[in-house]
Amino acid sequence: MLHPKVTVVGSANVDLVLRAERMPIKGETLIGNAFDIFTGGKGFNQAAAAARLGADVTLIAKIGDDPFADILQSAIDAENINTEFVKTDAEAGTGVATIIVEPDGKNSIIVVPRANMRLTPADIDVAKNSIAEADVLLLQLETPIDTSEHAIEIAKANETIVILDPAPARPLPATLLSQVDILKPNEVEAGVLSGRAVSTPEERIAAAKALQSQIASDGISAVVLTLGEQGVLIYTQSQTTHIPAIAVEVVDTTGAGDAFSGALATTLAEDKPLIEAVKFANAAGAAAVTTLGATPSMPTQERIKEILSYT
Ligand code: RIB
Repeated sequence: MLHPKVTVVGSANVDLVLRAERMPIKGETLIGNAFDIFTGGKGFNQAAAAARLGADVTLIAKIGDDPFADILQSAIDAENINTEFVKTDAEAGTGVATIIVEPDGKNSIIVVPRANMRLTPADIDVAKNSIAEADVLLLQLETPIDTSEHAIEIAKANETIVILDPAPARPLPATLLSQVDILKPNEVEAGVLSGRAVSTPEERIAAAKALQSQIASDGISAVVLTLGEQGVLIYTQSQTTHIPAIAVEVVDTTGAGDAFSGALATTLAEDKPLIEAVKFANAAGAAAVTTLGATPSMPTQERIKEILSYT
């Protein structure tokens, strides 16, 4: 069987993870209770998720030339990912994230992208075929916008499905959004992109509708709005569907959105229907919150089957 092909343009970071009873307040020094170094970056996490779920994955990313790069490179090499287009930039440090995880598993993240911000349209040109030949191009917002736009243009010219996970939240050019087939924001991101409040069920539908009218209309054209413990809302021109969350023991929510996006991309690359892909992605996100760390929590098919058996 041919493997579904997923190309990811995105970030690769080293995550410095601190666990504490609560977030410090301004001016306060707080003693935490655990520290770990994991790999992460939304791009690498999503690429790892897709690879663990059986996709043929190419990652286009940039790391530095420092001890963090060594940690990251070994982790990338350990996944079944084409790393030909993971380039080193000797002048910038590897991307880092400081993540505070509270006892309820909720996290707060500060990312300093460093080398990730030096991924250029020229880096995309070198990897052009991997986008043109992919079933799905998956992107996030921890790398430069003009680089993403260039990758998206190549994908659209070659009938590669474009999925954008618009994290971290920021306003986007209309030209970019208009070429996205599937937009997968969480509530915060949907609020920033739509300029609307996104709290009540009605507001969520209105924001999803507004965003759906801004993305490409010639393909799947769906907004997949993730709502954490409230599940997922799928909005297309012909359906508004709510999928409930799967109840699991929450250890660390970091990377749950990445597991979701990687699984969504893989399932759509397999040509499965959108609703099936979202249900599978929902289970992947649930699986990810049961494990500490970002990349380490990206699930396998077996783990997702186990999670689905709880429903
Ligand atoms: O989505 C989680 C990821 O966000 C972390 O791995 C961190 O590196 C940031 O990119």
